[in-house]
Amino acid sequence: MNSINRRRFLSLSAGATGSVLLTQCSWASTSMSLPQKTNGAEVFTTNSNGLLDVALEARPSLIQLGQQQGNLLTYNGLIPGPRLEAKAGDSVRIRFTNKLSQASNLHYHGLHIPPTGKADNAFLAVPSGETETYEFTLPKNHPAGTFFYHPHMHEMVAEQVFAGLGGIFIVRGALDEIPEILAAKEEFLFLKDFALDANGKIPVPNHMDVMRGREGSILTVNGQVNPTFSLASGGLLRFRMINASTSRFYRLSLEDHPFYLIATDGGAIAEPVELKEILLSPGERAEVLVRGDRNPKQYRLLNLPYDRGGFAMMGGMNNGGMMMGNRGTVDSTTQVIAKIAYKDELAKPLPLPQKLIPVEVLPQPIATRRIEMSMSMGMGMQMAFLFNGKPFDMNRVDAVVKLGTTEDWEIANVDTDGMEHSFHLHTNPFQVIDRNGKPDPYQAWEDTLRVRAKETVRIRIPFRDFVGKTVYHCHVLDHEDLGMMGLVEMQA
Ligand code: C2O
Ligand code: CU
Ligand code: CU
Repeated sequence: MNSINRRRFLSLSAGATGSVLLTQCSWASTSMSLPQKTNGAEVFTTNSNGLLDVALEARPSLIQLGQQQGNLLTYNGLIPGPRLEAKAGDSVRIRFTNKLSQASNLHYHGLHIPPTGKADNAFLAVPSGETETYEFTLPKNHPAGTFFYHPHMHEMVAEQVFAGLGGIFIVRGALDEIPEILAAKEEFLFLKDFALDANGKIPVPNHMDVMRGREGSILTVNGQVNPTFSLASGGLLRFRMINASTSRFYRLSLEDHPFYLIATDGGAIAEPVELKEILLSPGERAEVLVRGDRNPKQYRLLNLPYDRGGFAMMGGMNNGGMMMGNRGTVDSTTQVIAKIAYKDELAKPLPLPQKLIPVEVLPQPIATRRIEMSMSMGMGMQMAFLFNGKPFDMNRVDAVVKLGTTEDWEIANVDTDGMEHSFHLHTNPFQVIDRNGKPDPYQAWEDTLRVRAKETVRIRIPFRDFVGKTVYHCHVLDHEDLGMMGLVEMQA
């Protein structure tokens, strides 16, 4: 039985968890959704005709990041861009205007929508100064979850994302209706790192930054440095976490509080799982609940040190962190990225949900493919990142699959350099079956996953609903730009 089909969907207003303030909207036309402000974020929701109708403009903006002003790239002048919220079956129309000095486009990360035409087409290029209208409909059985949008112009993705482009895309549905989750206070953690020089400009990455994947030492949550979230004694917080950074891996932990995982990239898991830490590779998302059952004071949300490997090839420069300052590589310090402060008290403590939503069991695969991730460094330090030994070629189809079938893909990190990668597939979410032969504990819906050095991860992908060409790539976006991307064509 397909659990998704049994879901009922409820329309929630943007202000479900906070006070709603209608702001003036300069782009408002008769049909266009009005932006609302919730906790300082701009939110667009579906109108009464089931249409999410918004205008997004990519443009340079001066943005305050902690103590510094940065020359960043934004959607509508905001970091993150406006939050878009829809539900299964809704239609989405996004009028995208490119006010950057180079071509750009939009990708809807994790959404199960067509990869072709004016939908989630990574090959569509919107030249500087031009406008394009994206249009798609979310399938009626689209799972509820935390998704995001960002630019996807090959060879410029890392640069544009690092400069600030990205925003949250929420699909509301069955998970949001579970009473215990409905009662929780919803917050978003849009995680994005920035680097700025003394003039507030983004430094040009050096060779090493690009090889590792560029990182910055300014860590932001929803565009803010070290924001505070409030939690009532006896209350529940629901954090929707999005790793929207170009290359940074986050290893998150909240002082004295476990996380209760309720959803992975593609939506709900079967029941909450208690975790001390959450590791998110670039592009990954997770939803967790936090219980307000400790001493009512302030706690720090920490990003713990994490070594994502690499440098074996260069003679094991494990002190790379020192060598490169805090612009990349081994992060040997714990960083505070936000605070959770207890405020108020509930008369009756809120319980955790016992059950969430059963995860569909996928049919057996009709084929198995192996995809190897590696890098090569030629003469003159030319780098290339490869799948099965080849860099991306948009005129080459790397895998042809039949619509309506399920395949197992073995994603193997054979990089002798020892660097971790973040494998991501567009259009069709998948389930992780095992890692190095060990069954995955969740077997939940994912679209992005960390692949450690020498690791082989077996994923199961149902190719459903949409024909056409789509891509898979490393979500360490510098690696994608340097060739670690492949093309899969779904055929009827
Ligand atoms: Cu979020 Cu093709 O990427
Ligand atoms: Cu994507
Ligand atoms: Cu990579």
